[in-house]
Amino acid sequence: MGASANGNGAGRRRVAILVSGRGSNMASLIEAARNPDYPAEIALVLSNRPGALGLARAEAAGIATRSVDHRAYGGREPFEAALHQALLDARIDIVCLAGFMRLLTAGFVARWHDRMLNIHPSILPAFKGLDTHRRALEAGVRIHGCTVHLVRAEMDGGPIVAQAAVPVLPDDTEDSLAARVLAEEHRIYPLALGLLAGGRIAVEGERVRIAGHVPPAGPALVNPAG
Ligand code: GAR
Repeated sequence: MGASANGNGAGRRRVAILVSGRGSNMASLIEAARNPDYPAEIALVLSNRPGALGLARAEAAGIATRSVDHRAYGGREPFEAALHQALLDARIDIVCLAGFMRLLTAGFVARWHDRMLNIHPSILPAFKGLDTHRRALEAGVRIHGCTVHLVRAEMDGGPIVAQAAVPVLPDDTEDSLAARVLAEEHRIYPLALGLLAGGRIAVEGERVRIAGHVPPAGPALVNPAG
């Protein structure tokens, strides 16, 4: 446990990041946690895909990794039992889903109530699910973006912690729009985890209230600003 204090006066929160793919959001969280004043430390990176690029990147960064291959289990519940045990073994306080492409059961989600974050590439509640950038282009929206939220049983639902918006430009392709959104994902995920790990988030009803000073959002339409 690190010696530095977070907003609760406690040590740094131990975080597990769950990935299925390349792990660029994971990398942004690892980078933020290099700062000793950041209230979270990345204690584990876990993947359901043993070959995930994110695992290799985490190992290269000196972070402990585990894979729990969903194909090795006879269904979602035994898979999640193994996942949960891995999190207990590592004494995890907070779970961050970062491109983790498995739906989680209500039972698993309940165990991590208000202690599990997800990042989604749209301004929720718009465009839940997959292919958000293609669907945003097809819908003709002028503003698109990303959301970090606390996880609830409903897919891509739950109290919103942070969002960032980007313009949709006339010549955008799925790839160009995805890249613009991804840059904002890398800003708001460390911000949101810092707020949760720092004990600054209260959930009232299903809305998040943030304690302490939050600077006003700048022209990049990030709310709250980092
Ligand atoms: C990110 O864009 C993330 O928002 C998205 O997957 C990508 C993972 O990239 N997540 C979802 O669509 C979840 N519904 P990364 O592995 O480079 O972080």
